[in-house]
Amino acid sequence: MRQFNEHDLTDAVIQQLAESDDPRFKTVMTSLIRHLHDFVREVELSEAEWMTAIRFLTAVGQKCDDKRQEFILLSDTLGVSILVDAINHRQPTGAVESTVLGPFYWEGAPEVPLGADITNGARGEPAFYSGRLLTLDGAPIAGGMLDVWSGDGEGTYDMQRPGQDEMLCRGKFRTDAEGRYWFRSIRPVYYPVPTDGPVGDMLRKMGRHPNRPGHIHMIVSAPGYQTVATHLFVKDAPYLESDAVFAVKDSLIVDFQRHEPGPAPGGSVMDVPFYTCEYDFRLAPA
Ligand SMILES: [Fe+2]
Repeated sequence: MRQFNEHDLTDAVIQQLAESDDPRFKTVMTSLIRHLHDFVREVELSEAEWMTAIRFLTAVGQKCDDKRQEFILLSDTLGVSILVDAINHRQPTGAVESTVLGPFYWEGAPEVPLGADITNGARGEPAFYSGRLLTLDGAPIAGGMLDVWSGDGEGTYDMQRPGQDEMLCRGKFRTDAEGRYWFRSIRPVYYPVPTDGPVGDMLRKMGRHPNRPGHIHMIVSAPGYQTVATHLFVKDAPYLESDAVFAVKDSLIVDFQRHEPGPAPGGSVMDVPFYTCEYDFRLAPA
């Protein structure tokens, strides 16, 4: 049995990949082992710190269930999710920028008619959303799909409310012949990422706040075009400069216009103030 020291150990571990028949796996694992060993050497990790890390990762796994994904939260708050997103979605200039999917996507939202109110009783300031789905040249894309979701006006997602089995603030809209979409929901507000688990402990230890600026999520798609998962952020929202998951893009910030009670889009008359949000999405060809 050959003996290894703290310097030649890394190459010995990497050599154990020699028989792997998956070249990409080999590349990824080689780099992972190299960086992991370098990290341990660089900080001169103590045994107590190593055990703390093992306990932390164990707790992250144990916090996960069918609705809670603490590993995604860890990835989000360490900036890994947005880095993976940036590398995988280098969009041509003019195309809508992507950002993180986030942990609150609930597959299977119903397709509803244009103009529908998707709040489904959720509390919040009313907001009317509209715009167009366009090619990079500005031609309308008919029959495209906007799959939309957000928290309510209190910063809480439906799936975070115990016993809430019905979807709130979620819906799919198909663009019309001119590429237009329009619907009603609420103006999103800032919210904290979940802090009752090990990632919350980590954020506190780092001296960070857990908040995300107000935003509405959407997956924008159309046959023949690249699908983009993105957000629209509320201009001047708190925490826009310090999003806990680093997901803000300047091109996705929208000035939500405030209106006094009265006539609103779609022919309704509002007895409370309301907002309008206009945004055109441009998609790159697939
Ligand atoms: Fe969100």
